[in-house]
Amino acid sequence: MRDLFKYIKPALFKLEPEQAHKAAILALKLGVAPRGSLPNHGLNQTIFGLKFDNPIGVAAGFDKNADVPNEIIKTGFGFAEIGSVTPKPQAGNPKPRIFRIPEHMGVINRMGFNNAGHDAVLENMRTARMNKQAGQFGVNIGANKNSDDFIADYESGIEVFYNVADYFVANISSPNTPGLRALQSKDSLQQLVDRICQKRAQMQLQYGKYIPLLLKIAPDLTNEDIEDIAAIVMASELDGVIVSNTTIRRDFIAGHVHENEAGGLSGKPLFEFSTHMLAKFYQATKGQVPLIGVGGISDGASAYAKICAGASLVQLYSCLIYTGTGIIDELRQGILDGLKRDSFNSIEDAIGSQANVWAQREV
Ligand SMILES: Cc1cc2nc3c(=O)[nH]c(=O)nc-3n(C[C@H](O)[C@H](O)[C@H](O)COP(=O)(O)O)c2cc1C
Repeated sequence: MRDLFKYIKPALFKLEPEQAHKAAILALKLGVAPRGSLPNHGLNQTIFGLKFDNPIGVAAGFDKNADVPNEIIKTGFGFAEIGSVTPKPQAGNPKPRIFRIPEHMGVINRMGFNNAGHDAVLENMRTARMNKQAGQFGVNIGANKNSDDFIADYESGIEVFYNVADYFVANISSPNTPGLRALQSKDSLQQLVDRICQKRAQMQLQYGKYIPLLLKIAPDLTNEDIEDIAAIVMASELDGVIVSNTTIRRDFIAGHVHENEAGGLSGKPLFEFSTHMLAKFYQATKGQVPLIGVGGISDGASAYAKICAGASLVQLYSCLIYTGTGIIDELRQGILDGLKRDSFNSIEDAIGSQANVWAQREV
C-alpha cells in the first residue's frame, strides 16, 4: 500500500503543506487513503484500562477538528488522537507556518493551535462516536493563546468532551503558544495537575465512568525538570504521559534552508532525542507509569525501538507526510519482527527492555 502513495506523493508535494494536508484528510474521508492489510494478531494490549488492538496511533495535530477519527482507525491504526482543541476557535499563526524538510524526513511547524474550538469539535466527535466500530479516540486539549487562565481552559476541555473521549491529554508542551510550556515547571505543573485531576473526578461522578487523563511533555527538558515532572506524575491520579512533543532544537538539521524557522521540529530528526527523553522518563517513573512514545517514528524498527525504550503505545505524525498511512503494515510487522528476534512473548515483555541503553545515549 505504500506503493500507491509513491504515485500520489509528487502531486501532494507540489501543493503547499497545509493544502496537501487538506487533501490527505479528504482522501481519508473518501476512503481512498492507503490502508494496511495485516491483521493485528499478537499486538493487542490493555493500557490504562483501555483495549488497544495494536499499539500504533496517529498523534495530535493531524486531525485537529475530529474530521476523520474513524477513517484513521480504518486505515489500520489502533488509536487516533484528535486536537489540540481550545475552548474558543482559533486561527493560529500567519501562514506559512509549516515547512517540509524532505532531506531529513522532518517538519517544522508553528501552527499555533489553529482549531475549530470546543463546540464545533464536540459536534464532530459526537458524529464520529455514533459511527465508531473500533479503536480508541483520544482528545488532546489545549489553551487559547489569549486566555486569562490557561488551566481553566484544560478544565473546560475535560468537562466538554467527557462523554465522547476514550482518553484525555493535557498538552502543555506546544512551543507555539507563548507561556504554555511554562506549565511544565514544578509549581505550575502541580497546580495544573491538581485542578485537572479534580475536574476529572467531578466528571467521573457526574457520568459514572472513568476517563484516563495523560500529560504531553516536551523533549526540551533538563534532568531536574524530568525528575520534578516524574515525581508530580507519580504522586498524582494521572494515568500516563506522552513523550514527546516537537523540539525547539535545530542542531539535527544544521545548515538546512529552514533551520531558522521558528516553531517545533518533528519527524525523523527528532527520533533519537525524543526516544532518549522517553527512556529517561521511563527510568524516572520506575516503569510504573504507562508512556506513549512519539517523535520521529518512520519505520518498523523505530516503532519497536520506542517500545524497548519504555513506551507502552506509540504515535506518529510527521513521517506520514513522507510515507502515507499505508506505512501501518510496516510498523505493525516491525514490532512483530522485533518481538520475535528478541524472543519476547508479548509487547509487555519488551517495554523498557532497552531503557538503560537509550537513557545513556548522548543526543
Ligand atoms: C503540523 C503539526 C501540528 C501539530 N499539532 C499538534 C497539536 O495540536 N497538539 C499536540 O499535542 N501536538 C501537535 N503536534 C506534535 C505531534 O503530535 C508530535 O508530538 C510530534 O510531531 C512528534 O511526532 P512526529 O515526529 O511523529 O511528528 C503537531 C505536529 C505537527 C508536525
